[in-house]
Amino acid sequence: MKIICAENYQEMSEKAAAMIAAQVIMKPQAVLGLATGSTPIGTYRQLIQWYNEGKLDFSQVTGINLDEYRGLTGDHPQSYRYFMQRHFYDYVNIDPARTYVPDGADPDAERACRNYDQILREAGGIDLQLLGIGLDGHIGFNEPGENFIGETHCVKLTDSTLAANSRFFSEGEQMPREAYTLGIRGILQAGKVLMLADGRDKADILQQAFRGPVTPRVPASILQLHPDFTLIGDKEALRMLLS
Ligand code: GLP
Repeated sequence: MKIICAENYQEMSEKAAAMIAAQVIMKPQAVLGLATGSTPIGTYRQLIQWYNEGKLDFSQVTGINLDEYRGLTGDHPQSYRYFMQRHFYDYVNIDPARTYVPDGADPDAERACRNYDQILREAGGIDLQLLGIGLDGHIGFNEPGENFIGETHCVKLTDSTLAANSRFFSEGEQMPREAYTLGIRGILQAGKVLMLADGRDKADILQQAFRGPVTPRVPASILQLHPDFTLIGDKEALRMLLS
C-alpha cells in the first residue's frame, strides 16, 4: 500500500487526475472504475481541463461505476448516473455506450446485479478503480457486515450512510434506503486501486481501515491485501494514519 499526502483538496485532486491520465495515455482502451461522492469531483474537473487542453482522449475508454441507488432513474438529480453526466461524462469525448452505472430503475435486484457482473466480465475487468470511503468504511456501497460479498449485490444502507448522504436530497424527499453496488471481488480484481480521502472527518476511519485488522466490519480494510493500492489523502484526512 502506498500513501501519498497532499497539502489540500486541490493537490489531492491533481495527483489523482495525473494517475488516471497516465492510465489512459498508457492504455487508450482503459477500463476505469469510477466513483461518485464529493471527494472525486475535483479529480473529474482536472481531467476535463486536460481534455479541453487537448492532452487527453477518452474516445476508447470504458467507464464502469461502482454503485447506484435502487429506485432512482438516471434522470433523477441524485442518481449516480446523473452525477457522472454532470461532473464528467458530459464534458469529455467518452462514448456514451461505454459508460455503465448499475440500473437503479430495475426493481429486480437479482437481474440488475447479474447484468452488471456480466458487463464487468465483458469489459475484461477494471484497469484502475477510483474509490472514496464512507464514514463507516464502506467502499462503493459495500457496507460493514459479517462477510465480504464478492459479486454485485443489493445493499441496505446503514444509518451512518443515510445520515451522511441525506444532505444531497431535498427536504421531504424520500431518500432510497437500498443500493446496487459492485462487490468486493469486482473492486479487488482491478489492476490498480486509487482511494481518495480529504478532511478531518475521514481521519478516524482511515486509521481503522489501514492500521487495523482486515475485517468486513470495515470493508475498506480489504484493500490492505491489494497488490497495487494507493491512498491519496490531504493532511487532515491522513493525520492519524501518518502520526
Ligand atoms: C457514497 C458513495 C461512495 C463514496 C462515499 C463517500 O456513499 N457510494 O462511493 O465513496 O459516498 O462520499 P464523499 O466523497 O462525499 O465523502
